[in-house]
Amino acid sequence: MTDQVAQDLPALSELADERFARDPGFAYRAAHAQPGPGLFRMPTGDGLIATAHRTLADLMHHPALGAQHRRKRRSGAGAEGALARMDSYSPFFMNEPAHTPIAIATYRPMSPARNHPLIETITHAAERAMDDMLDRGGVVDLRRDYVQVIVRNFWVRFLGLPAEAAPLLEKCSAAIVPMLKFETTPEEVEIANRAAQTLRDYVEACHRTAGDSPAGDSPGGDSPGGDSTDGDSTGDDSTGDDSTSETFLNLFESVLADSDWNDVPRNAATTAAAITFDGIDSAAGGVANVVYTCLSHPDQWALLEENPGLVHHAWREAIRLEPPFFGLHRGAYEDIEYEGVRISAGTNLLMAWGAANRDPRVFENPDRFDIRRPKRRTLGFGGGPRICKGRHLAMLEGEIALRVLLERLASIELLVEEPDWGGPGMVRAIRSIPARLSPK
Ligand code: HEM
Repeated sequence: MTDQVAQDLPALSELADERFARDPGFAYRAAHAQPGPGLFRMPTGDGLIATAHRTLADLMHHPALGAQHRRKRRSGAGAEGALARMDSYSPFFMNEPAHTPIAIATYRPMSPARNHPLIETITHAAERAMDDMLDRGGVVDLRRDYVQVIVRNFWVRFLGLPAEAAPLLEKCSAAIVPMLKFETTPEEVEIANRAAQTLRDYVEACHRTAGDSPAGDSPGGDSPGGDSTDGDSTGDDSTGDDSTSETFLNLFESVLADSDWNDVPRNAATTAAAITFDGIDSAAGGVANVVYTCLSHPDQWALLEENPGLVHHAWREAIRLEPPFFGLHRGAYEDIEYEGVRISAGTNLLMAWGAANRDPRVFENPDRFDIRRPKRRTLGFGGGPRICKGRHLAMLEGEIALRVLLERLASIELLVEEPDWGGPGMVRAIRSIPARLSPK
């Protein structure tokens, strides 16, 4: 193996900066202008970052590139604790032999094979959220009042939890978002750990109760759901005929029961709690970015109004341009050599999917939003054996959210000029979309 190390790239020093969160294009362009495989040293001093489309498309299949290595956080606080215990049930943090069975059991309940119930539940949530927004006069925040309501109401029904659990789950999920920053404060770590404990206790207690009594009963009075009415519960959906056999928990368990996988850390409720961050915040961030990106390009929105059949193209293109994570980590478990660059065992590699999606060698005029762009391999959901397991669900949520906006509204006026993309950190998701809606 040659011993060439990855390059430094000055533009990447702004990764942890507000400027990057607002518009990462300058850093992506600087990375793509460099010769070589687009592998750079992380300016934070922690591992490497991969930016080129072909490099990510190759490395994402590499068998030695597994779950990210857990590190002591730079704030000095430990990454151990409730969050780490809960995360260890998520495929994202697993390696073989556990990863494949748990990843499959996680994916099946959200796969295209279950389109019908998924579409029905998401559409119901979107229609109800739209009714509520119009009832309130049509001046709304499309992230808070629409996207967020759709995803959290879908998620609690999908887990078979009582409707009043939605604000609690949403609050716990939001408390985990700062863990995707490059640096966290001890307070943020503490809050995230408490949220993880609450989430796990609550979902497990609901699951136990559901096993003893009719589906949907909430756990006893001393459950952490005690503060579940905190915050905005607008649009919570208490209707619906939850079927005991169609929840994520039951489907997850039945996939494992029908398999010959033994010795995997199986606990459906803990896995459900562990992916609740993905089910709520990743999904809402992705759908919010898609809705905002479409609406902030009036020519493209007009095309969609003329031809709603382009909704899938709009979803793909908006996730390409503005994915809710510009990157997520993988960890090297053996020394890897890629085009002469060494990625040593123990290194974390930030897979910058957002940068790859704007690689001019694959996407012509990559910073332009064009819903009629010819189909190319976009990498917003990662790829290879560790590809996002919620990608189909997120796509349905995004496409249905767009479709209901197109079907029900005559016009949408955006009331924001400088949107807040959150961050800085790996999450880049629009926080708020103030808008005035006019019904048809
Ligand atoms: C637009 C929304 C979303 C985006 C852009 C997204 C993106 C990603 C990305 C980039 C990865 C890493 C893939 C890799 O390393 O190759 C990932 C992993 C994962 N995502 Fe998502 N995600 C989204 C929504 C969701 C949802 C809704 C769920 C579940 C409810 C979910 C569950 C997961 C899981 C379980 C993994 C780990 C997969 C594994 O390691 O096998 N994601 N996601």
